[in-house]
Amino acid sequence: MADGPVRFGIIGCATIARKLCRAIALAPNATLHALGSRSIEKARSFAAANGLSGAVKLYGSYGDVLDDPLVDAVYLPLPTSLHATWAVAAARKGKHVLLEKPAAVDAAELDRILEACEASGVQFMDGTMWLHHPRTAKMREIVSDRGRFGELKSINSISMFAPNREFFEDNIRVKPDLDSLGALGDLGWYCIGAFLWAAGYRLPSAVSALPDVTRNSAGVVLSCSAVLYWGLAHETAATFHCSFLAHVSMDLAVVGSNGSLHLKDLAIPIEEGSASFEFTPGAKFVDLHIGWSVKPEKVLVPTELPQEALMIQEFASLVQGIRNSGCSPERKWLEMSRKTQLVLDAVKKSIDAGCILVHL
Ligand SMILES: *[C@@H]1O[C@H](CO)[C@@H](O)[C@H](O)[C@H]1NC(C)=O
Ligand SMILES: *[C@@H]1O[C@H](CO)[C@@H](O)[C@H](O)[C@H]1NC(C)=O
Repeated sequence: MADGPVRFGIIGCATIARKLCRAIALAPNATLHALGSRSIEKARSFAAANGLSGAVKLYGSYGDVLDDPLVDAVYLPLPTSLHATWAVAAARKGKHVLLEKPAAVDAAELDRILEACEASGVQFMDGTMWLHHPRTAKMREIVSDRGRFGELKSINSISMFAPNREFFEDNIRVKPDLDSLGALGDLGWYCIGAFLWAAGYRLPSAVSALPDVTRNSAGVVLSCSAVLYWGLAHETAATFHCSFLAHVSMDLAVVGSNGSLHLKDLAIPIEEGSASFEFTPGAKFVDLHIGWSVKPEKVLVPTELPQEALMIQEFASLVQGIRNSGCSPERKWLEMSRKTQLVLDAVKKSIDAGCILVHL
């Protein structure tokens, strides 16, 4: 089976594991081999509720998935506070690691994970799906067009959704011992990732949270804003707001000296089969400033597979390269996660210190 599909094991039955089961089924060269939960009953009821094939091995512990010699790669949709323990354990067992975002509680924990992956020669990737949508590649062509787009000047992003009341009582994402980063980790991760993407993964020189932080009674951030600066004189700036307290919105605006790009559904496209953005090159105000000289151009990018299946496909093809052809793991995915985590840490530090400017 050395050249067969990549056999995934899923560790944990979080809601998002349902989406990833479907993605693994849709992606060529990937198959779901095993599912582990804290109890065999939970694993069985997840398998039944999601119509998993009887061929999927069900385990009543996370460790059993790692001990299954047929598992090539694991997907870890666990609470962030458990990432380091289980991702490191998976890497040490020679399993490739696809880790849900936010990648870790902080960069020190992420470094332990990345070091374990590097030491075992396994692929690491975090679960940021939008990076795999063909829309993202199309937007890259535009923002790197020096003539039509110009120099990067400003980026803005909001990432929010208003969950139901139970979320605030039960969800792991608002519990300090499970997901201490709250909305910053769950949603701010997308904004920060989008900024780094737009800036060609150049780290900002400084960041500052803004004084609009809302926390729950346990101190977990439910909504916050921050600004990131690049350059000695802060020539390029990015601001974001992330929140569990407002209507679903996932806007990104990337503004260059001669063009601007806008979209409204960065992390989860409004429709599965295609996604769009608007690009406005070289607009001026018309005479009397009663309109613009150029209308935004709507760019529609179809996709045959949903972005999460494209993520699985990309990850599986890297794993196949390592497993079948002796390739080395693709390091760019480690670096992208690490930079996102470093900026996230700096924003967290700024929030905790009363919105001071934090230099990176
Ligand atoms: C700005 O964009 C417009 C439209 O694409 C183009 O005609 C113009 O040459 C660009 N200006 C610069 C300075 O590159
Ligand atoms: C699937 O795997 C086969 C054999 O390893 C390879 O030739 C093919 O390109 C892979 N397909 C995709 C979509 O990655």
